[in-house]
Amino acid sequence: MKDVAKDTTLVHAGRDPRANHGIVNPPVYHCSTVLFPTLDALEDSDRRSFEIINYGRVGTPTTFAFEQAAAELEGGFRAVNTGSGLSAIATALSAFTKAGDHVLITDTAYGPTRRFANETLIPYGVEVEFFDPCVGAGISALLRPNTRVVFLESPGSLTFEIQDVPAIAKAAKAVGAVVMIDNTWATPLFFRPFEHGVDVSIHAATKYMVGHADAMLGIIVCRDEATWTTVKKTATRFGVCAGPDDLFLGLRGLRTLSVRLKQHQESALILADWLAARPEVSRVLHPARADFPGHALWKRDFTGSSGLFSALLNPVPRAALAAMLDGLELFGLGYSWGGFESLILPARPAGVRTATRWTEPGPLLRLHAGLEHPDDLIRDLDNAFRRLNAAL
Ligand SMILES: Cc1ncc(COP(=O)(O)O)c(C=O)c1O
Repeated sequence: MKDVAKDTTLVHAGRDPRANHGIVNPPVYHCSTVLFPTLDALEDSDRRSFEIINYGRVGTPTTFAFEQAAAELEGGFRAVNTGSGLSAIATALSAFTKAGDHVLITDTAYGPTRRFANETLIPYGVEVEFFDPCVGAGISALLRPNTRVVFLESPGSLTFEIQDVPAIAKAAKAVGAVVMIDNTWATPLFFRPFEHGVDVSIHAATKYMVGHADAMLGIIVCRDEATWTTVKKTATRFGVCAGPDDLFLGLRGLRTLSVRLKQHQESALILADWLAARPEVSRVLHPARADFPGHALWKRDFTGSSGLFSALLNPVPRAALAAMLDGLELFGLGYSWGGFESLILPARPAGVRTATRWTEPGPLLRLHAGLEHPDDLIRDLDNAFRRLNAAL
């Protein structure tokens, strides 16, 4: 059926039960070698290795099912799977850059994205420049004839600045640069990159798509055939591919993405409101709150907010912060986000940016609102603040 809602696409994309004995979910193909009946068939598979099943690393029915589902959801031409979100970022950046090119990356990009640019692209002769995420159309002043890629992450996953994607994309197109976005926070449900001028949309599927903190997975969705071919060829040269069980977990996660996100969104907003009223908190960084500086852009371009946001505390000694965090019962202290469980992560944005200055004196706590009841999460945080105050 055409023109269905995204909730419906999530349930049906990448599935063809009639081609699989009526079984609802696609089979998980564990595959390296593919056998060919004749020399003709073998040679034909080499010529059309991106279209047919030729070798496990290049694609299997399990791979194609996840890629097809992600591309359909995002509204792109086709997608390329990778073994992690970071691998998707590294593959996409490598696909479009060579020595002598100039790349612009938002200053609020995920730390390892920055590290890949600084420690791999620069040694290979690519000039990397970070820009203020709030630059908007002002990006024109930074664009050069050799600017090959403009890399966005909106919102930034630590401090949540929203980028003016249409304005940046319009300016980038004027010099022929490829516009990429790390769309992990919004998922294809809450931000539609291709409708805002983006060429390559990247997801750490590890987060919301998988949704259960039990697999590493990435996906690169491309606007058109030329872009996809460039990315696919690079992924093939690097030997990038995800394992079949992780691809299956990605597909399975997609079926419930919409209902999970509704709860993540609702709980995050409840927690954000509660935190904003706490005397220990100087500011809450959540794009869907009216007091957030990027709120108007978020409202214009996004259709929802997910479960990840930050709270800035008033300055406290490290020992008090440790007392607060060490005794958490429901929130886990750890990296990643997007799973069913709530997480909290202290961070220092000042140390990971170069184009802008972070001057907030207190510690930042990044929270991921999981699927626990928000009242219980609030009790956990309330107890945490009691411990913090007792340690002052
Ligand atoms: C915004 C963002 N992009 C990409 C990644 C990388 O994903 P992965 O952990 O699957 O490599 C992360 C991981 O935390 C992330 O937060």
